[in-house]
Amino acid sequence: MNNFVYNIPTKVYFGENQLSNLAKELLKFGRRVLMTYGGGSIKRIGLYDRVVSELQAAGIELYELSGIEPNPRIESVRKGAAMCKEHNIDVLLAVGGGSTLDATKFMAAGACVDHDPWEFFGANAKPIERALPIVTILTLAATGSEMDSGGVISNLATGDKLGRLAPALQPRVSFLDPTLTYSVSKFQTACGAADMMSHIIEVYFNTQKDLFMLDCFMEGMLKTIVKYAPIALREPDNYEARANLMWTSSWAINGFINGGKRKAWSCHPMEHELSAVYDITHGLGLAILTPRWMEYCLDETNVDKYVQYGVNVFGIDASQDKMTIARKSIRRTEEFLFDTLGLERTFGAVGIKREDYAMMAQKACRYGDIKGFKTLTPEDVVRIFEMCVQ
Ligand code: NZQ
Ligand code: ZN
Repeated sequence: MNNFVYNIPTKVYFGENQLSNLAKELLKFGRRVLMTYGGGSIKRIGLYDRVVSELQAAGIELYELSGIEPNPRIESVRKGAAMCKEHNIDVLLAVGGGSTLDATKFMAAGACVDHDPWEFFGANAKPIERALPIVTILTLAATGSEMDSGGVISNLATGDKLGRLAPALQPRVSFLDPTLTYSVSKFQTACGAADMMSHIIEVYFNTQKDLFMLDCFMEGMLKTIVKYAPIALREPDNYEARANLMWTSSWAINGFINGGKRKAWSCHPMEHELSAVYDITHGLGLAILTPRWMEYCLDETNVDKYVQYGVNVFGIDASQDKMTIARKSIRRTEEFLFDTLGLERTFGAVGIKREDYAMMAQKACRYGDIKGFKTLTPEDVVRIFEMCVQ
């Protein structure tokens, strides 16, 4: 295995009633706080009032930016960065799902530079050397943004949705209270499960040398999703299910499982083009792509990985021939995503049109072929898109 550096400098408060520690943590960074949130779910679940009263009682000077969109836009980032400068903000408090957290990360970085925050993205991206401190309260288990140093921002003017990683973007403190996810809709719960599943699969299906210990860890997390996502769908306020999903979302992408693997991710660059053009939910796009991509990549040279996955995650009988097990493992993945979670299975069902395939495939490969589990050229990406038609 390759060498690696492991460093996750996010302090996590996990569980119910941990918000009593919020003011204390924010005050370590200063008194002037910019609270960011999305379209209003935090008001509907009473979280907004709780946070505001907690912070007011502690004498915190609170500023607010609401309306951060799912698939967050660069305009929101610009607004937040400008507010940080105008009000001399000490720390940002992101309250919401991955979109709110991601946008807030680039507001925090944008506050420390004079250029437009969109210049943090793309082939000639400007460096992110500093960012204001970020504290998060997570309300949706999916992206892992609460414990990673990345984010993804959309720019409708250019038709791009681009990601960026930088250590300065890592949240300093994250509050993970599973009860805050009780109100997440069935659809978003399912998309969240598909997203975290993909974060693991992107690393697990990798031709670089595996570390047995990390493979076992990944299989455990995949089994956790397969076990608890259906329970969360049936019983939205099942604490055990919501807690298991929430902690899995963080560990699926916080760097731990990577173990020095340097191969690119495959489904994520493809999916980001779908949500850039069609504004679909990230987890839904991944659900449609993942089984098709698995099918496209399968061959005699990599079949063992599918066998390991099928046997250890889905309990498929290991005595059959390898290709049979591999195909069954893809089928079980589909059944989970489409039948159990109830997500749509085709591009047609979500309105993705053939005329955009070539353009989206070119953009997915904007930095060159995708050198992942199997190297994908733009032509390969189009073929995978074709497989998603039905
Ligand atoms: O905007 P509000 O009103 O808050 O409603 C949101 C939104 O409509 C709602 N929601 C969130 N918490 C809720 C709730 N509704 C009821 N109760 C609650 N407790 O859910 C909707 C979706 O929210 P969003 O934040 O967009 O979802 P998610 O957490 O899945 O974030 C998706 C974004 O993260 C990016 C995706 O590309 C996408 O833009 N990603 C970020 C990553 C990262 N930072 O590392 C990695 C991922 O692979 C992903 O690309
Ligand atoms: Zn994702």
